[in-house]
Amino acid sequence: MAPRIRALRTADARAFADHLAAHVAESGQGGSPHFAVANVVDREEVRDAALSRWSRSLLDPLWGRAFGFFDDGPPPRLVGHLELRGGRVEAELHRAVLSMGLQRSHTGRGFGRALLETAIAWARDEARLTTLELGVFSDNARARRLYESVGFTPIGMRHDAFRLACGVSVDDLLMELALRPG
Ligand SMILES: CC(C)(COP(=O)(O)OP(=O)(O)OC[C@H]1O[C@@H](n2cnc3c(N)ncnc32)[C@H](O)[C@@H]1OP(=O)(O)O)[C@@H](O)C(=O)NCCC(=O)NCCS
Repeated sequence: MAPRIRALRTADARAFADHLAAHVAESGQGGSPHFAVANVVDREEVRDAALSRWSRSLLDPLWGRAFGFFDDGPPPRLVGHLELRGGRVEAELHRAVLSMGLQRSHTGRGFGRALLETAIAWARDEARLTTLELGVFSDNARARRLYESVGFTPIGMRHDAFRLACGVSVDDLLMELALRPG
């Protein structure tokens, strides 16, 4: 059986865009908290931007690397992702910004934790980054609890960070994880 979690390749960019479109459509719907800034994405834009990030060297600003979580299939379908985006400028290349999401059919079963542990190990041991950072909507209790449980700590709150199309204003909690001492 294919591994359920693996690094995504350029050949996966279309599946990534399809997954992201299905995923953000669930934000704030059917009992889920708000977790995305919009419920709709342009799949072509998502695919092209992902290809651009994933094809950059880790030594170049704006690199991206993603891990995917696949269901059992057949054929296995991408239903979860975690992406790390490297620094915006050379002086920021020791850090990356983390974002992740599972389609609701696969939440609450430990797959988010597994994705997170895979990406943290890669960032620490292979990319040799020093720090991961992220923003999580303050009402997203499940995500906050997961991030805290692997060592992320709150570093600040952006009040009224996003005004969603549905009229809701969202506070964004900024969190950081140090991957190595010093
Ligand atoms: C947030 C998310 C990645 C977590 O992944 P997951 O696979 O559902 O979570 P896990 O099953 O690994 O559980 C994570 C923790 O949350 C806890 N948890 C589960 N449901 C919860 C709830 N409703 N409220 C608070 N904590 C909850 C679990 O108990 C678990 O902690 P534990 O291992 O200490 O018991 C996933 O739910 C998701 O993608 N949600 C929608 C998108 C999203 O919120 N993305 C993050 C944006 S910053």
